[in-house]
Amino acid sequence: MIAIGSDHAAFAFKEDIKAWLVEKGYQVRDFGACGTERVDYCDFGFLVGEAVARGECDKDLVFCGTGVGISISANKVKGIRAVVCSEPYSAKLSREHNDSNILALGARVVGPELARMIVEIWLSAEFEGGRHLDRIKKIAAYEEGRMDSKSAREPR
Ligand code: RB5
Repeated sequence: MIAIGSDHAAFAFKEDIKAWLVEKGYQVRDFGACGTERVDYCDFGFLVGEAVARGECDKDLVFCGTGVGISISANKVKGIRAVVCSEPYSAKLSREHNDSNILALGARVVGPELARMIVEIWLSAEFEGGRHLDRIKKIAAYEEGRMDSKSAREPR
């Protein structure tokens, strides 16, 4: 199940990506926005982020004008590693090295074809684990207050 969310600026963009994902056979849960009426991107970043953190949806997509505001908001939810990408390379590496669990795109930044390419690559890339897992664990420990910046730099 893929959770999807956007603000008003990316509403049409979200609808387009959603229809394309459904056509490809994905199950999609749409958290809104439901139209082009002005809303706050953070509301949707929090909603999608919480759905991912609860384990209801695994790889998720959020959109706003730039992808920046909604990714910052989603990243405030514990356990979220949201990335805003405008090209496929970073999207792929964000899965392989950073285990990103939310992809944000800017509807005013990337065109529909590039957006689909980025989403496709991000959805199919897998986290590589290994040395990358140690870093993800550190980020989680810091986020949960189990480690500070000083102890993070101590040799393992
Ligand atoms: C809305 O105008 C715009 O600020 C929003 O979509 C987003 O780009 C914020 O980061």
